[in-house]
Formats: sequence, C-alpha cells, structure tokens
Amino acid sequence: MSVYRAAEDRYARMIYRRCGASGLKLPAISLGLWHNFGDDTPHAVKRSICTTAFDHGITHFDLANNYGPEPGAAEAAFGEILRSDFAPYRDELLISSKAGYLMWPGPYGEWGSRKYLVASCDASLKRMGLDYVDIFYSHRFDPDTPLEETMGALDFIVRSGRALYAGISSYNSARTREAAAILRDLGTPCVIHQPSYNILNRWVERDGLKDTLQELGIGSIAFTPLAQGMLTRKYLNGIPEGSRATQGKSLSQNMITPRAIESIRALTEIAEARGQTLAQMALAWVLRDGGITSALIGASRPEQVVDCAGAIGNLDFTPEELAAIDRCASEEDINLWARSTQEEDHT
Ligand SMILES: NC(=O)c1ccc[n+]([C@@H]2O[C@H](COP(=O)([O-])OP(=O)(O)OC[C@H]3O[C@@H](n4cnc5c(N)ncnc54)[C@H](OP(=O)(O)O)[C@@H]3O)[C@@H](O)[C@H]2O)c1
Repeated sequence: MSVYRAAEDRYARMIYRRCGASGLKLPAISLGLWHNFGDDTPHAVKRSICTTAFDHGITHFDLANNYGPEPGAAEAAFGEILRSDFAPYRDELLISSKAGYLMWPGPYGEWGSRKYLVASCDASLKRMGLDYVDIFYSHRFDPDTPLEETMGALDFIVRSGRALYAGISSYNSARTREAAAILRDLGTPCVIHQPSYNILNRWVERDGLKDTLQELGIGSIAFTPLAQGMLTRKYLNGIPEGSRATQGKSLSQNMITPRAIESIRALTEIAEARGQTLAQMALAWVLRDGGITSALIGASRPEQVVDCAGAIGNLDFTPEELAAIDRCASEEDINLWARSTQEEDHT
C-alpha cells in the first residue's frame, strides 16, 4: 500500500465557516460515512473517498455507532484509515460520532439514557482507535428519557475527555431550545445541530429550527443535502445499477416519483445556467444564506467528492434564481427522520 501524503494545497481548496458562536470552524462541505463504508464496500474505495476528501480540504468526517453494515463497520474502517493514512494529521481532522439508534440488543442499546450514551461513546472510540472524538451527538430525541439525563450524559462525555464538543441531531426547534438551555446551565454549550435539509426537504424552515439555531448561536450541519443522491442527474433516465436506490437501504425507489423527477429536471437547467452541476447547486443552496454552517455529503466514489467540493465555487444566488428553484421544486415525502422531530410515542 502506498504511503499517503496529503495535498499541499488542501486548505486553498475549501472554505471554513464558524460553527455558530463557537471557536470551531467547519469546512463548507463535510463527508459522512453512513453508506459506502460498511463491509459490503472494498476498503480501497473507502480509503480513496477519505483521502480525496482531505486533499480537497474536507477536514470533517462524520460517523455514528451504527453506520455499517454491520453496525460499527464504518467506524472500524475509518479507524483503519486513521492508522494507515491519517495518523500524522489527527489534529487537522474533526471527527464526530453519535449514539441514539439501535446498536445492541436489550434496554441499554438505543435511545438517550446515560447508560447507553456513555457505553456507546466508549465503544466508538475503541473501534476508531481514538482517545477522543471532536464532536459527540445525541443522535435523536428520546421522548422517554428526561432531557436532563441525555444532556447530562453529553456533558459528562465532554468533561471526561471523550469528546471536545457536544451536539444534537434531528431535535425539533422546541426541544433544541430546552436541550441548549440544559447544556448551557451545565457549562457545556450545544455547539452544533445536525438536521436533514435539502431543496426537497425543508422541515427546518417550517419548524423554525433554522432560525432558532441562529438565534441561539448554535452551528449546523445539514445531512442528506443531495436528498440521498436524488439531487443529481443520476435518476433522470431511470434507476442506474449500483446507485443507492438499487440497494434496498434508505433510498426507496418509491421516493423517486415522476413529480420529483420533473423537479430535478427543471433544477438541472437552473444549475447549468449557473455553470454548476446539480449536486453543486444543491449544496450551494443549503449553504446559501449562512444559516447552515456545513453541508454533510455522502459519496460512493471519490469523483463525487471532487464534484461536491466544487460547490464552493459559487455559493451566491440571485433572488430570481432562488424564486425559480422554489417554483420548480416541491417538497417530497423523503424525510425519514420526521418521526424523531415530531416526537410520536416511540415505545
Ligand atoms: N444524523 C442523522 O440522523 C443522519 C441521517 C442520515 C445521514 N447522516 C449523515 O449525513 C451524511 C450524508 O448523508 P447522505 O449520504 O444521504 O447524503 P447525500 O449527500 O444527500 O447523498 C449521498 C449520495 O449521493 C450521491 N452523490 C454524492 N455526490 C454525488 C455527485 N457529485 N454526483 C452524483 N451523485 C452523487 C451518491 O449516491 P450513490 O451511492 O447512488 O452513488 C451518494 O452516496 C451521512 O453519511 C451521515 O454522516 C446523518
């Protein structure tokens, strides 16, 4: 295996934005390891996606306990890349993990108890071979655990040196206010929120979360900014072999409706007129008004990372372009995380 040396000009290729009122800066484009980092993907592909990202100034790698398959496999693979390639660069990397979804059987293997969060954080550190992660998240709001306990666990995780910063994911605006207040009282600020957000899924605007985060000085990183790949050209002429929609995982073919395809076709024309690929315009749109700190992409090939990193070439929109995007793109029923934000009874 060849020795990896990071591109000398990597920091000239990306822009960095302050994460809310904190001292932390995030790259405008971050890389998530939810898909394509499990046991079903060759290690060379994973390695090449990660090193290409870092070569383009993408310093932030987002993981969770359950990313796989099997759950835990993505953290194990990233741990291997840390050892083989990224070891000299640890202090240049921002690594996050989360706990909230099902990780192991029994009453302590999911949701928001202190018992689960602390044990899961320890297991994540072990899989990655790290002393600490930079950010640790509560992956989803738990309606059955006192918020004080979940936030207390995040505070403990930071105070005990397992993480440097605390974050929450998919909490709605009201719960975010409560969580942030508890963390503030504990002396560990809520530095970042991770919601789903893209042109076809705008719940953060309807819920008021985007405004709340700005008001509270909490940074934000939008996941699925490409609607799991729908906001690219790939599904315009059918479902290509090997694409996420063929894998029977999180992107159901039912989500790619004729109406969505019509929107995507019209959006592609707007992107082309801006001199961008549709993926680049979709990422620029998420980042357009500074309300979102970073767009958190996934990738199945290194070329996709390069294309996405190119989004920073044009982050500005004219009012006419924004209006045209709104006219041709209706919200689709693609928010798989809506239940967490609506707080239905999960028992
Ligand atoms: N907090 C949470 O609850 C939560 C939930 C979900 C995700 N996340 C985080 O968000 C990250 C991103 O999620 P995501 O992977 O769904 O994001 P996404 O960026 O919306 O979708 C990624 C997919 O889009 C396609 N793609 C990416 N760049 C492309 C390009 N330039 N041209 C054509 N196709 C391109 C690829 O699909 P193909 O595979 O078809 O090539 C890729 O797998 C995850 O890895 C995870 O870290 C967090």
